[in-house]
Amino acid sequence: MSLISKLPAQGTSIFTIMTHLAEEHNAINLAQGFPGFPCDPHLTDLAAHYIKEGNNQYAPSIGIPVLRKRISQMAELMHGVFYKPETEITITSGATEALYVAITAVVKTGDEVIIMEPAYDAYGPSVRLNGGVPVYVPLDENDFSIDWDRLEGVINEKTTLIIVNTPHNPSGYVWKKDDVDHLAKIISDKPIFVISDEVYEHIVFDKKEHYSLMRNPILRDKTFICSSFGKTLHVTGWKIGYCLAPEKMSKEFRKIHQYIAFSTATPLQYAIAAYLDDDSKYLELSAFYQKKRDIFCEGLKAYTPFKFTPAEGSFFQTVSYRHLSTENDFDLAVRLTKKAKVACIPNTAFYKDKSDLKVLRFCFAKDEAELELAISRLSYAVF
Ligand SMILES: Cc1ncc(COP(=O)(O)O)c(C=O)c1O
Repeated sequence: MSLISKLPAQGTSIFTIMTHLAEEHNAINLAQGFPGFPCDPHLTDLAAHYIKEGNNQYAPSIGIPVLRKRISQMAELMHGVFYKPETEITITSGATEALYVAITAVVKTGDEVIIMEPAYDAYGPSVRLNGGVPVYVPLDENDFSIDWDRLEGVINEKTTLIIVNTPHNPSGYVWKKDDVDHLAKIISDKPIFVISDEVYEHIVFDKKEHYSLMRNPILRDKTFICSSFGKTLHVTGWKIGYCLAPEKMSKEFRKIHQYIAFSTATPLQYAIAAYLDDDSKYLELSAFYQKKRDIFCEGLKAYTPFKFTPAEGSFFQTVSYRHLSTENDFDLAVRLTKKAKVACIPNTAFYKDKSDLKVLRFCFAKDEAELELAISRLSYAVF
């Protein structure tokens, strides 16, 4: 008896491959996107406290009320937009689950879903598992801005959903108010939903702002905003995410969430809710990461021949080597891991057809000393 794969083309993820290679060659792992430093001990103390206090049974499926209220307050403080904690906010097992549930809620067999490339690797497979057809639209090769003509050109009566990611992984591009308004304008009269993946919502640089899609009233009514505390609180392993969406959309979202995860870790939800009594925990995150981005980018500029524009947000920096070599990006990433002992992700990983634009992605969510060591190793890299 053979099992017929629903994802026949899917192999081991590049993140797993590069992380294994980094371990094997004792390389600094700037490949996978997770913080290389511990979270605040106060947060782990709170988690231990809520476990010891006995909060160890199922949480309500939609999440504990106090955490949903915190998220509502956070959205209001950041964007001046109110979501009702009772009916419009749902806690999930990471943003990954929120994205999958939102996709499942709207995508039916044959529906088309627009994904802008390069794209986070979970979107396409989640669409396909639901019988949908991903339609890929490339972002600008140089600055990763949106090609509106191309995007509008692929919209048709089968288009059900557009997936947005801002701040963007891998490029660090941050959507501007104009981008948000433009999207609203082109879909305002169409039955098209939006998912906005905003997991890096609190990491933006150079005094730029994260302009959430919720701020546009047209999009507020059509969008599942998906996010996560993993990146914000340096706890990617906790997998506590959330989805904000209008009541009718949340209702459908919750129906599906209850059969995919039902609920997510109770004591961790309490710990996060208590920790967020202090808004500075997320309001100061951009400054925290700006220091790391600056150290990394100044080092890249001074000691390596890569070309790049500093990321506007997220904790990734992409660099181009098109002017230096024709080597394919996977081979170069492997070579840098083995020889320079610095691991990164080849950007082809973020394209369905593996377009090789000679770009690498580095994660700078690491200790500053480690970033400096990575730069000194990359400065000897051979071209
Ligand atoms: C753009 C983007 N979306 C979603 C996720 C997944 O978030 P979570 O770990 O909360 O599931 C990631 C993690 O790297 C990401 O980069």
